Amino acid sequence: MASKERYRNVDLKPELKSFRDEVIAGLSEKQKRISPKFFYDEEGSKLFNAITRLEEYYPTRTEASILSAHKEEICNLFSDHGALFEYGSGGSFKTEILLDSCKRIDTYVPIDISSFYLEQSSKKLLVKYPSLKIISIALDYSGDFTIPMLDLSGNIVAIFLGSSLGNFEPEVSKTFMWNAMENLDEKDRLLVGVDLVKDKDVLERAYNDKSGVTAAFNLNLLKRIRRELRSDINPEDFEHYAFYNDEMNRIEMHLRAKKDIHFSVDQVKITMKKGETIHTENSYKYSVDQFTELARQNHLEIKHMWCDAKNYFAIFVLKKI
Ligand code: AVI
Repeated sequence: MASKERYRNVDLKPELKSFRDEVIAGLSEKQKRISPKFFYDEEGSKLFNAITRLEEYYPTRTEASILSAHKEEICNLFSDHGALFEYGSGGSFKTEILLDSCKRIDTYVPIDISSFYLEQSSKKLLVKYPSLKIISIALDYSGDFTIPMLDLSGNIVAIFLGSSLGNFEPEVSKTFMWNAMENLDEKDRLLVGVDLVKDKDVLERAYNDKSGVTAAFNLNLLKRIRRELRSDINPEDFEHYAFYNDEMNRIEMHLRAKKDIHFSVDQVKITMKKGETIHTENSYKYSVDQFTELARQNHLEIKHMWCDAKNYFAIFVLKKI
């Protein structure tokens, strides 16, 4: 990157399977399912932002408080002219806690699936941080990935926050950790925000808020199907259903049919019985031991672990073994 050029976007052209094909395939399975990655259209992203501010939804504010409490130690993980990589950068709100407090960060590398959102959020950050360089990378980090060679002068601290790892199925979590490890050198670090196993009531409240924002977020998927695909599905025929599955250590979100229904999606006919569900999301919770084991299997060791006072949430600092 020329010294005056502060922004570059590297588009590795993540292949997005079509919304239509995935929805029809998922609704044709015995246990109907739609991937949670389709939650985040414009309306879904707004609703998710509203979720992060709910009293019941503790992960976002708890993680932000851990980041703030340890921002100096995090800053010390960077060498001079270090690079901050962020998987799943989204709105970059928590990133600003680090950018505000750490002058060692020379380059910010947000990594996400949408080039469009990456460019939008990068432009805002370029104005707010006039000496920061940004290289955004559009790639799908839920599959196999390699970060291209970048012309960096310091080490890399990569972050994967918001307990987004929890939305990956265990196999995908392993692939992610492995690929993330392969992209690290001796002096680099990986920070992962993890929602910990806890009291079932606290977990179930976080996904069943009183004001119904999480329900609206879940049901928006059906509104999106109606808006974008040729479908007569009626969101009012469904209700939000979220519960903690103790055996699998995960919150499951479903959309449950309130009566027997028939609808079509692009001329494909679907029928559902009263009580049948469409499984829309898993949000896995980890114990410290389980996460330590996941890291170890992927040649990563834990250098630090920071938790809040209630042990609801943890940020792990990992290093290549
Ligand atoms: C983005 N992800 C970590 C959230 C979670 O808690 O699993 C998504 C979410 N679903 C319902 N509420 C929040």
